[in-house]
Amino acid sequence: MKYEKLFEPFKLGQMELKNRIVMPAIGVSFAAGDGSVTQRMIDYLEERARGGVGLIIVGLACVDFARGRTGPNKLSIDDDKYIPGYRKLVETLHGQGAKVALQLHHGGGQSLSALTGSIPVAPSSIFCRTGGELPNELTIEQIHGLVQRFALAAERAVKAGFDGIEIHAGGNYLFHQFLSLSKNKRRDEYGGELKNRARFLLEVMSAIHEKAGAGCNLWIKINGVEYGKVQPWSTGDAVELAQMLQKAGSTAIRVSSVGPNYPYVKTEEPDGSNVHLAAAIKKAIDIPVITVGRITPFAGESALLEGKADLVAIGRGLLSDPELPNKLASGRSEDIAPCITCLTCAHLTPNGESACTVNPALGREAEYRIKPADRSKRVLVIGGGPAGMEAARVAALRGHQVTLYEKGQRLGGRMRWAWMVPGSSRIEDLTLHLARQVKKAGVTLEYGKTLTPADIEALKPDTVVLATGCSISLVKRFLAFGIIFLSFLSIRQAVERGIAMKSYTRRRQVLGVQTPLLAAAKPNHELIPLLRGRVPEIFLAGDCLEPAGILEAVADGARIGRRL
Ligand SMILES: Cc1cc2nc3c(=O)[nH]c(=O)nc-3n(C[C@H](O)[C@H](O)[C@H](O)COP(=O)(O)O)c2cc1C
Ligand code: SF4
Repeated sequence: MKYEKLFEPFKLGQMELKNRIVMPAIGVSFAAGDGSVTQRMIDYLEERARGGVGLIIVGLACVDFARGRTGPNKLSIDDDKYIPGYRKLVETLHGQGAKVALQLHHGGGQSLSALTGSIPVAPSSIFCRTGGELPNELTIEQIHGLVQRFALAAERAVKAGFDGIEIHAGGNYLFHQFLSLSKNKRRDEYGGELKNRARFLLEVMSAIHEKAGAGCNLWIKINGVEYGKVQPWSTGDAVELAQMLQKAGSTAIRVSSVGPNYPYVKTEEPDGSNVHLAAAIKKAIDIPVITVGRITPFAGESALLEGKADLVAIGRGLLSDPELPNKLASGRSEDIAPCITCLTCAHLTPNGESACTVNPALGREAEYRIKPADRSKRVLVIGGGPAGMEAARVAALRGHQVTLYEKGQRLGGRMRWAWMVPGSSRIEDLTLHLARQVKKAGVTLEYGKTLTPADIEALKPDTVVLATGCSISLVKRFLAFGIIFLSFLSIRQAVERGIAMKSYTRRRQVLGVQTPLLAAAKPNHELIPLLRGRVPEIFLAGDCLEPAGILEAVADGARIGRRL
């Protein structure tokens, strides 16, 4: 496929986009504690702009930081003091040829008192399962106050130079709480029929147009459907809302979806999962429609060609590979690092950071830029799993002479089995990608060889990277292929029909076993004492350092490859 449609310029409001690929808002944890823009945030977004995306929507800027934020280290836009930071961000992204919009946000009942110190507010006092709290019902005065907060925030965004403003009326946040019958039980002019439930959003739009100028490029992100609720928000509601928003001057509609059964929380989410919703809305309005949700290049090009959307937003795909648009445009699609929909990025690591399984450079863009080594070394990597492959790839790209020894006949290590776990099939994409990139980086591959310490010494390496994985010992029998991937999972409990585990996706799964079993992972690092004094330098990476998941293995390889 040529992807010509994806690379067509497009006019959104007054904004000329160089292509139709959008980076949607992703609320990563790279802002400062007080909500201001950091250099880390700028580096993270600049990398995506450099990668060729046409428009970047900067995510989750809260209009009421003290009451409405939904996570640590997220952005704020509730004070003029933030404007200089945003201005620097916008100028940097413009310097890379991307247009930039700011997404305005309030979490409503999903905000967390543990974070903000105040009880969350919502249209109605209905328990929020996600936040785990009972919010206070907003008074009419408070609603009017919030309308003004959004208008002031938009004015600041315009002052900072943003090309567009997106209001987050999707997800389960404040605006959707007003829109959804399951969260809005008000009996005043903000509750009841849809035109009342949309009143708050429409008032915000009108106040923004007044404050920031009628010509300001303002659009809305909405849910095209709500999955798995008793009184769900339907696509019919979304169509009706989109028509109201068009009338109120929205320059586009971005269509997502939400709900306990939302496909996006499933690792097996189909490609282009929300395209049908965008298409339904597009039929009913004349302004551009942006689709989002597992848009692969093929799904994106197809949606555009079939007239189901005008722009396509790629979120996680740009976390796993910021260079996706440029690689696609230059015919290097096979080099794109695939998002495997594991959703690691949707949870903070124990260090409180956003991280990507596939892209260890996420949030470390400046620090992790691959630089040539001062001196080319002979590097021996032992083990062709994720840690060994990533260490070898990075070391080779830096100019080292790298040989990777794999005792089996194929690269991948236990990743080759891990994708058999239900819901994990996309691990195979990562396995194939890493194997391809190792070869392209010029790593010499030796298969079917188990090296002794004497063999290693005789090869006279400057550095040895041990990525020999771990061994699993099991007590008791169980079905078929299960053994090999156990260290990608952590066993939570023995249950009646098997064992419940948290997979690398951090989701609970039950593996059927004939008898509950005990498993223990033991790092394979017997070579260390035998190699000491015989080679100048030894590094350990992945499970042979400490049994963990793919995220940790790839991160180890990435770190070590850069240290050599
Ligand atoms: C880690 C993470 C953070 C997100 N943060 C936001 C956000 O701040 N605002 C927003 O509108 N959507 C947010 N989303 C949803 C994305 O914008 C996007 O709609 C979703 O990831 C589906 O698109 P994708 O499959 O291309 O990633 C987030 C998604 C992820 C995975
Ligand atoms: S962490 Fe997983 S889901 Fe998130 S971008 Fe990376 S590969 Fe995709």
